[in-house]
Amino acid sequence: MDIELSLTEALKSVELASSLADLDGVRIQYLGNRGAITQLLRSVGSLPKSERPTAGAAIHRAKVRLEDAIHARKEHLEFEELQHSISEDCIDVTLPGRKRFQGSLHPVTHALTRIEAMFEAAGYDVVDGPEIEDDYHNIQALNLPQDHPARAMHDTFYLDDGRVLRTHTSPVQVRVMESQPPPIRVICPGRVYRRVSDQTHTPKFHQVEGLVIDREISFGDLKGTVIDFIHGFFQEDAQVRFRPSYFPFTEPSAEVDVMGTQGWREVMGCGMVHPNVLSMSGIDPQEFSGFAFGFGADRLAMLLYDIHDLRTLFENDVRFLRQFG
Ligand code: DAH
Repeated sequence: MDIELSLTEALKSVELASSLADLDGVRIQYLGNRGAITQLLRSVGSLPKSERPTAGAAIHRAKVRLEDAIHARKEHLEFEELQHSISEDCIDVTLPGRKRFQGSLHPVTHALTRIEAMFEAAGYDVVDGPEIEDDYHNIQALNLPQDHPARAMHDTFYLDDGRVLRTHTSPVQVRVMESQPPPIRVICPGRVYRRVSDQTHTPKFHQVEGLVIDREISFGDLKGTVIDFIHGFFQEDAQVRFRPSYFPFTEPSAEVDVMGTQGWREVMGCGMVHPNVLSMSGIDPQEFSGFAFGFGADRLAMLLYDIHDLRTLFENDVRFLRQFG
């Protein structure tokens, strides 16, 4: 077999190999154990002695050239394959990103967080109480005997065992007075429940109760505290007014209105803690006095964000809630 001819043929096949597998086929065909060039090399021994060196050298050169060509082609094919896979898997960094939905705090949570921060800054403790209450704490200990007509002020959810879903956070002030001696300075935020539902009432809502008991606490302290709070929560020049009112657990009592976009809006009840309430919880009304206040956090959030229907706060429509992110 003519070595030059074999080499030309082999080099052509190498050039034509379009994949690494093809190329390996060519390598085996010429350089493998039974490959054409390998066999030529083996046949050198059967040539006349004088021809062996020239023939051997020529075949060896052919073998080296072919090996070099295969190596070069291999690098080329590998490079092409790499280019191909890079362009296939490529990420187009100029595409606009996918929009990710980010949750936000509920407007009532926002309001409660602010309220707690404001009172904590003024030295108040934030305390919790049970949402399922007994009649004593929810009503009686707040100076409302069993048959008192003011019981009808609250539309109560009753449990089978006689307990109730608390109708306000005022029972927490009783629990605080029972468990610690004055001076007391607390707010009690939490969920409360009533059997009512309309534009300004939901069966479940949120209240914040405030209680301060110490020596010589006056109605002036109450007024200052409430006005400071309203100004801090809304704005420094928010208009506030106190109207005389009645609550069994405070005497004297007042309701507080704030001027909103729709005129005066009632936002809280308050007053000087009734001596009966103090003494029922083990505090001597001769020695101590105090004030209490209670307001709906939802109501404040509505005023702050100018929301007109309380029920929208609890319908869990994300399109509505997202506005307060
Ligand atoms: N508990 C009252 C209610 O739910 C609110 C209230 C009024 C709380 C006067 C008080 C207060 O502490 O002094 O309507």
